[in-house]
Amino acid sequence: MWHSTHTETENLLGENIRREPGESISQTYTTSDLLSPLFFLSKRRFLSYEESAFFGIMSQNYSTLLITGGSGFLGWNLARVAAAKSYDVSFTYGQHPLAIPHCREYHLDLHDRQQLEDVIEAIAPDAIIHTAALANADVCEKRRSAAYDINVAATERIAQCAEERNCRLLYISTDLVFDGRQGNYAEQDRPNPLNYYAESKLLGEKAVKAVSSNYLIMRTALMYGQGNGVHGSFLEWMHRNLQSKQPVSLFTDQYRTPLFVHDAAHALLEIMESSAGNDTFHLGGAQRLNRCEFGEIFARIFGYDQALLRPVTMQDVPSNAARGADCSLNSTKIQQELSFQLSDVAAGLRQLYQSGVS
Ligand SMILES: NC(=O)c1ccc[n+]([C@@H]2O[C@H](COP(=O)([O-])OP(=O)(O)OC[C@H]3O[C@@H](n4cnc5c(N)ncnc54)[C@H](OP(=O)(O)O)[C@@H]3O)[C@@H](O)[C@H]2O)c1
Repeated sequence: MWHSTHTETENLLGENIRREPGESISQTYTTSDLLSPLFFLSKRRFLSYEESAFFGIMSQNYSTLLITGGSGFLGWNLARVAAAKSYDVSFTYGQHPLAIPHCREYHLDLHDRQQLEDVIEAIAPDAIIHTAALANADVCEKRRSAAYDINVAATERIAQCAEERNCRLLYISTDLVFDGRQGNYAEQDRPNPLNYYAESKLLGEKAVKAVSSNYLIMRTALMYGQGNGVHGSFLEWMHRNLQSKQPVSLFTDQYRTPLFVHDAAHALLEIMESSAGNDTFHLGGAQRLNRCEFGEIFARIFGYDQALLRPVTMQDVPSNAARGADCSLNSTKIQQELSFQLSDVAAGLRQLYQSGVS
């Protein structure tokens, strides 16, 4: 008999694979169960990485992984999750060198084609997850040519290099490709970017489709989670202000489907390993809500004073880049491919709180 105990939120790297609601915490397997490969496949979500690796059932088709933008918010979280799942992870950084345990880091200026080719040659990845971008919408609005160079031209170069090496390419796009007039956007809905950041990301999608014969485009929603000290999410800003008893202004008229970055990392790796190909997926959290509603859940879970939350409308706060009112994503298509449920905001924030991240 082999006995295994699992908890849902031991750490943020998710080495423990999540249970379905109502599933028992402890499972007891018989020897004949253990000898059946089908048993492992059917129970795979109940096994931790270490258990899976011990029995040699990790099915990694794309074991050597290159993550561009590993010094960024998503890339850093993704690299840590991928390393914990025993991928051979290399990542690139631009201006912010950092080390991630069990990963190799490479400097890469996205403008430098030769450097890009050299890095890809050195790593010989099976798959590239291209997260690097000029991702600040207000900066992109002011620096359109830089946004084009990084988000479009460099994406096209990466797609060409991936294609030359028969490499699978996952390109990270954004919910902001939509104008926000409709909400609950599915993959077949027509993009209509309102700002240059979104336009450049959509052009990046087009470049990937034109060049790559093995790609996935992942339009991710607004993400939240643990930052790395250089790049993070809007949570740092909320923590900082609320800790020092400063009010935070939060939109009541901007709806999104916020995505826990940790779910994003797991979903990206699972979809990369799936048979899906040359397709676009929407990847958002399980709940549509406005920023003020997000703030209320955040303050409740982290124990901050709700009175510090100031409801405002987008009109009240001038910004360089226009944003849509409701860019919520419908993630039904990707959810069907995943072995876990995408979290709602309370579940994602509770995981962060319980893991001591602030
Ligand atoms: N964060 C969100 O809520 C969100 C929502 C939807 C979609 N997305 C998409 O998700 C992806 C990741 O976003 P993020 O929030 O993680 O971005 P981020 O934290 O701003 O990180 C951007 C990354 O790109 C790298 N980079 C930027 N310019 C570069 C250059 N010229 N040469 C080399 N590297 C460069 C940065 O490296 P250095 O800092 O080392 O220079 C950093 O690693 C992006 O494609 C973004 O469009 C993000």
